[in-house]
Amino acid sequence: MRTIVITGGTDGIGRGLALRYLAGGERVVAVGSDPGKGGRLLREAVRLGAGERAEFVQADLGSAARSRAVAAELADRHPVLDALVLGAYRYNPRRIRTAEGLEQTFALYVLSRHLLAEGLRGSLERAPGTPVILSLCGVGGITAGTMRWDDLQHERAPYRAGRVTMQGARANDLLGVSFAERHAGGRTRYVLYNPGFVATGMTQSLRQPMRGLTKAMAALFAQPVDRAVGPVAALLDDPPTEPLSAFLRGRPVRLDRPEFDPANAARLHTALLSLPGEAFRDGTRG
Ligand SMILES: NC(=O)c1ccc[n+]([C@@H]2O[C@H](COP(=O)([O-])OP(=O)(O)OC[C@H]3O[C@@H](n4cnc5c(N)ncnc54)[C@H](OP(=O)(O)O)[C@@H]3O)[C@@H](O)[C@H]2O)c1
Repeated sequence: MRTIVITGGTDGIGRGLALRYLAGGERVVAVGSDPGKGGRLLREAVRLGAGERAEFVQADLGSAARSRAVAAELADRHPVLDALVLGAYRYNPRRIRTAEGLEQTFALYVLSRHLLAEGLRGSLERAPGTPVILSLCGVGGITAGTMRWDDLQHERAPYRAGRVTMQGARANDLLGVSFAERHAGGRTRYVLYNPGFVATGMTQSLRQPMRGLTKAMAALFAQPVDRAVGPVAALLDDPPTEPLSAFLRGRPVRLDRPEFDPANAARLHTALLSLPGEAFRDGTRG
């Protein structure tokens, strides 16, 4: 039996993956912030006869301290992990400053993913098969999005949700490059995966009229979750041999594109390590 940790495993694509693996006999640990959604997943697991193999961890991964603590708790409870899916995400139409003083999108979409990947790497390396981290992100899709290196949390610039989100997408590309470069001797594969447009509850956090428009577009053009999870599961079940790979709706994305510049990946890693405050010491220095 494999053990698969899925952040954002209580809704949308992450939930689709969680139920697929629970139905298939694997152990699933889903992380999300809403206990109601976690309870619904656990009840569905019982209905599938998988109650013993389902775990829900309630955590606001917009907190760096909580992300690090969740990684430590899970590493302790699961010294061997087969896969980590990084899917927790929320679109923030307005600037949200977390209790730790971070811009929320940066904290959840970038920093937390880094902390979880690093914190669970030890358990992943012990997997009997090929361990894999799969980040659900925007790779290979809309390539807009630039890194504001002198202002990564958009503190000085006016808050533009699209710009902040797209920087997060580019940062996720770089997190994959950085992980593969820094752990070149490791066994854990890193997969960047853009599922394309999928009909999920992601639209809920959009403001009107965008919410209505996006819902209407989703009804016409988006894939249902059940269809979108197939190619994701195929990569989790049989990870690529390369340390880093990227896919857009199952099709490979070339890694010689500017989004994957190793110098920028190293620069992002340095920036993450330089964040002020005790909460961000992630043990990856050196
Ligand atoms: N749907 C698409 O069209 C699409 C396209 C390209 C890429 N993607 C990527 O795919 C991933 C999943 O998207 P989705 O559409 O399935 O999203 P979704 O349906 O909105 O689900 C998001 C998940 O993240 C969790 N989450 C949000 N904020 C959190 C927080 N602060 N702490 C912990 N968990 C949190 C949510 O649980 P709680 O509400 O309980 O916190 C939920 O389980 C995202 O990374 C997204 O960028 C999606």
